[in-house]
Amino acid sequence: MPKPSCTIVLGTQWGDEGKGKIVDLLAQNVDIVARYQGGANAGHTILLPDGRQFVLHLIPSGIFHENVTCVIGNGVVIDPVALLDEIRMVEEQGITVRGRLFISHNAHLIMPYHKMLDQAAEQRMSKDGSAVGTTGRGIGPAYEDKFARKGIRIVDLLDRESLREKLRHNIAEKNELLDKFYGASERCDVDQLIADYEIFDREIDPYITDTALLLNRAIKAGKSLLLEGAQAALLDIDFGTYPFVTSSNPTAGGACTGLGIPPMAIDRVIGVAKAYTTRVGNGPFPTELLDETGEKLREAGHEYGATTGRPRRCGWFDAVAVRYTNMINGVSSLALTKLDVLSGFPEVKLCTHYERKSDGRAIAHFTNDLRLLADIRPIYESFEGWTKESLEGAASREDLPQTTQRYLDALEREVECPLEIISVGAGREETLGVGTALMSE
Ligand code: GDP
Ligand code: IMO
Ligand code: MG
Repeated sequence: MPKPSCTIVLGTQWGDEGKGKIVDLLAQNVDIVARYQGGANAGHTILLPDGRQFVLHLIPSGIFHENVTCVIGNGVVIDPVALLDEIRMVEEQGITVRGRLFISHNAHLIMPYHKMLDQAAEQRMSKDGSAVGTTGRGIGPAYEDKFARKGIRIVDLLDRESLREKLRHNIAEKNELLDKFYGASERCDVDQLIADYEIFDREIDPYITDTALLLNRAIKAGKSLLLEGAQAALLDIDFGTYPFVTSSNPTAGGACTGLGIPPMAIDRVIGVAKAYTTRVGNGPFPTELLDETGEKLREAGHEYGATTGRPRRCGWFDAVAVRYTNMINGVSSLALTKLDVLSGFPEVKLCTHYERKSDGRAIAHFTNDLRLLADIRPIYESFEGWTKESLEGAASREDLPQTTQRYLDALEREVECPLEIISVGAGREETLGVGTALMSE
């Protein structure tokens, strides 16, 4: 069988599924790892075999394999402060970034005013309870400018005169918004900003290239690629629980537009799902547990945001939601993570469908209609937990306790998609059944 050249790895829930771990693991067998959307709102955690742990916000999760080339595509919004900090942090640990990281000249830049506007808008909306609970990293306002055709791309740094003109125009507008609409005290200064971005430009310059060309040449040359999604399908601007979503397309289509890779070049899509569900920020969450069990999941899974440190909301696995995101993304197989976290729970539950509170009607398909989501309750199938048996030392799914296997069989049946990878710990080794197709030459 020929080695697949292009695999998307994306989140199938509300983020933090363990995409960083899975991409790092699979990166052992590929040539290129490319991020296609989002920005420093992402926090992808990687635990190296020597015990060092890294949280990456912008650099693709393949950087710890020295033969892997990393790409940040045009679909990503880049905060140069966050990027340069991250490059320094990784280099200080002895990992070479120069010559291995390539950034699209068409990627949009996050400006200080984007972060100010993100935070000012959230503060304003929190007064009437409509805040999204963003990460405050300027993501929404940066994508707003991109689609309003006011954004500043990396390539725009090259032409100082036109950059100055664009910034002058943008800053006048943003300062007015901050002042008159949000009543915020912060302002942006054109000269200061230009001076700062000139420095960033010099530092970032060696990494900039036409990444669509680089990637398409690599595909033609038979190289293998992993396309790394940030956030997740239920946070997708089109398919998520709008407006409680992020401002990009983490779904599979976003990989094509965010990198300039044609759809026919994609060989497969690996969906990453946690063995239960978490969500940071506001918005609907049908299986959320606001009781002791939810608290226990948070503590057992260390469910605190990798980017903001906020406690994550926790609940049982929602097969209705994952069935839906598998459909939207054409997920070919799932990587199920954090199964170990469920060890010790006397009972484990799986949501198979919803029921309308108002008339008791069964609902088998996910909806992103907020009114309907407010009127549903999750219906669970219950499983005996594995309280005494450990998952440690299992080399395959068949080695797992019978109780665990029964849960996995039901989950696999309900999401209508094969489980190809099962993760039972944060480390690379703590993984069962790593994707055979990726391993084959
Ligand atoms: P991402 O944003 O999807 O990359 O996920 P995060 O890094 O935000 O959150 C996942 C967390 O779970 C990180 O702390 C990982 O180190 C950890 N993790 C990943 N897989 C497993 C697993 O199978 N078991 C346990 N216990 N932790 C895991
Ligand atoms: P990774 O890649 C979990 C959430 C925020 C908020 C909403 C919008 O680590 O899985 P934004 O700052 O993007 O405008 O916030 O999206 N969010 C994430 N939740 N994991 C992430 O990334 C997230 N990135 C954004 O909490 O609800
Ligand atoms: Mg994360």
